[in-house]
Amino acid sequence: MNKRQFYVSFLILSSIFIFSQCFRQSSIKDNTDIRGEQFAGSSSCISCHKQVYDTYASTGHFNTSAPATAKTVKGSFAPDHNTFSYTNGSHVIMESRDSGLFQVEYKGSALQAAHRFDIVMGSGRKAQSFLSWKDGKYYQLPLSYFVPVHSWANSPGFPPAYPKFDRIIPGTCFGCHSAAVGIRDVQMEGMRLSEEFEKNQLVYGIDCERCHGPAADHVVFHTSHPAEKNAMHITRIGGLKNQQRLDMCALCHSGLGTPQKSAFDYRPGDALSDYFFPDYTRPVRAAEVDVHGKQYQLFTASKCFVKSNNMNCSSCHNPHRNERDQLELLSRRCMNCHQQENHTFCKLKDANAAKLAANCIDCHMPVSPSGKITLLTDGQASPTPDSMRTHLITVYPEATRKILSRFR
Ligand code: HEC
Ligand code: HEC
Ligand code: HEC
Ligand code: HEC
Ligand code: HEC
Ligand code: HEC
Ligand code: HEC
Repeated sequence: MNKRQFYVSFLILSSIFIFSQCFRQSSIKDNTDIRGEQFAGSSSCISCHKQVYDTYASTGHFNTSAPATAKTVKGSFAPDHNTFSYTNGSHVIMESRDSGLFQVEYKGSALQAAHRFDIVMGSGRKAQSFLSWKDGKYYQLPLSYFVPVHSWANSPGFPPAYPKFDRIIPGTCFGCHSAAVGIRDVQMEGMRLSEEFEKNQLVYGIDCERCHGPAADHVVFHTSHPAEKNAMHITRIGGLKNQQRLDMCALCHSGLGTPQKSAFDYRPGDALSDYFFPDYTRPVRAAEVDVHGKQYQLFTASKCFVKSNNMNCSSCHNPHRNERDQLELLSRRCMNCHQQENHTFCKLKDANAAKLAANCIDCHMPVSPSGKITLLTDGQASPTPDSMRTHLITVYPEATRKILSRFR
């Protein structure tokens, strides 16, 4: 950590600490949201926004963190499917006991230690990682669950030689994967910062107020003024500038820069540049940007974005719905701009327009391997990359050849 990062992190964490002490006092008074009284919590939106709430409940965002239970942990605890072996001869077995779920380390048949699954990170769309709480710290458990191969796998970046149980998780992890986390202390250990968390004190998932900002005043006002049809005490997204709308998503979809402020302080309308220091490193070509977590950089490098006004993530994504794998529906959003009539439709010759229209995505946003996120499954020699859609929308001859061969 360089000096700048050090001072900045210190400032951020001390302000989080002071803030968390305020929560503490208010939570003694009454049973409010741990974020404070200005937050109402998602369940209070149901009475007036039931439709939005109901569809939102099935999104990756809403389910991206959860208490670890037999239901939320997607991996198997059945014999034959619950073991991972390390090259030093030890192995880890996933065990479901009366007292909870555990990753248990063995050397030969000798039990070394059992580590509890406390929190699940990841909705189970592609992968899940697990956190275990001990003495104020969260540790990432060595085994993650890798959905495409339905198998446990050594967590990304973890050594293949032995099970690593001492990787401490920083608060930034919760900043992208939860709505709030209870911090009980922030200490300096030499040049290192050390955060202490309250056990399992989280507002799980990315909730409504993570994107829309605190809404308790909005709820109170509309409850007592049921005739008012205009939204009061809440930021109107439609009134924001396009860059502000992009920044709402880029907060978590542009990678983790050097933070200036806690991501939890973000309110719609804020500029991303107030949360991260500008990155002065050599600009990389878009084609070299990792597909994981960098949708903002890739999309804004695409011609669609550069050549149009006011295009943002909502041009294709409905933030309140799970529209995963609905490629025909998503292709219709491409055709809002690329219509056959105005000649900006696909230039691919000799292809049937109806077939093209059913799926623009596989040719122009192919699923690509991440160079950063790779997972090693049991008995494999080399790790498998996690794969996701690139948001660099352009012409991919290789992907086209593959799809065309399917057309025939
Ligand atoms: C007592 C009724 C009521 C409750 C409870 C309520 N709202 Fe609203 N909300 C409204 C009304 C009325 C509008 C204006 C009409 C509309 O857009 O639906 C509105 C509009 C909105 C808008 C649209 C702003 C825009 O861009 O135009 C957002 C965002 C919003 N509410 C968020 C929330 C959140 C988050 C919660 C829960 C924490 C919540 N509301 C709870 C009544 C309510
Ligand atoms: C990932 C960020 C995000 C989350 C989480 C989120 N919203 Fe929204 N919301 C938006 C954006 C962006 C818009 C603007 C509309 C658009 O772009 O389609 C919006 C618009 C709205 C609107 C007004 C327009 C409409 O679609 O009805 C309401 C009301 C609303 N949100 C309520 C909610 C409620 C209630 C929740 C929680 C159940 C929620 N939102 C969760 C990002 C979010
Ligand atoms: C607070 C951090 C955060 C913000 C803000 C955020 N996202 Fe996300 N987003 C995530 C995380 C974390 C995931 C992975 C969720 C999971 O576990 O499946 C995700 C997943 C997604 C997915 C894939 C979901 C699926 O179900 O297939 C889409 C699409 C997406 N985000 C779009 C957006 C858009 C659009 C916005 C802005 C309106 C936005 N996100 C704002 C953190 C965020
Ligand atoms: C800067 C924001 C950010 C931070 C910090 C972050 N993530 Fe994520 N994470 C994301 C986004 C965005 C996605 C989904 C989209 C993608 O992978 O491109 C994701 C995906 C994941 C997934 C896969 C979920 C799925 O099925 O798509 C897991 C598991 C995960 N993150 C765990 C973690 C853990 C554990 C940490 C902390 C050590 C962490 N992440 C830190 C933003 C973040
Ligand atoms: C808001 C309008 C809009 C939407 C929505 C949109 N595009 Fe575009 N796209 C454009 C514009 C404008 C250009 C630039 C055209 C030009 O000037 O050549 C473009 C260019 C392209 C190009 C050429 C890229 C290159 O590098 O040569 C492809 C391919 C493309 N779009 C595919 C798509 C696909 C696939 C989707 C849906 C996933 C989509 N577009 C959605 C506006 C849009
Ligand atoms: C089978 C793969 C495939 C599908 C499906 C497909 N495209 Fe294309 N598209 C291509 C190829 C290859 C080119 C380049 C053709 C050339 O330049 O000879 C292209 C060219 C384009 C261009 C023009 C790029 C330029 O150079 O100006 C646009 C815009 C575009 N496609 C949009 C779409 C849209 C929108 C859809 C869905 C309705 C779609 N494409 C479906 C493969 C595909
Ligand atoms: C031109 C249309 C378009 C725009 C604009 C767009 N996306 Fe996407 N996005 C897609 C499509 C299509 C998919 C693939 C959905 C699928 O395969 O289920 C996708 C998938 C995703 C995923 C899941 C990726 C994966 O494979 O796990 C995330 C996360 C995401 N988008 C975030 C964003 C964010 C953040 C923005 C704005 C910076 C954005 N998208 C802008 C079309 C778009």
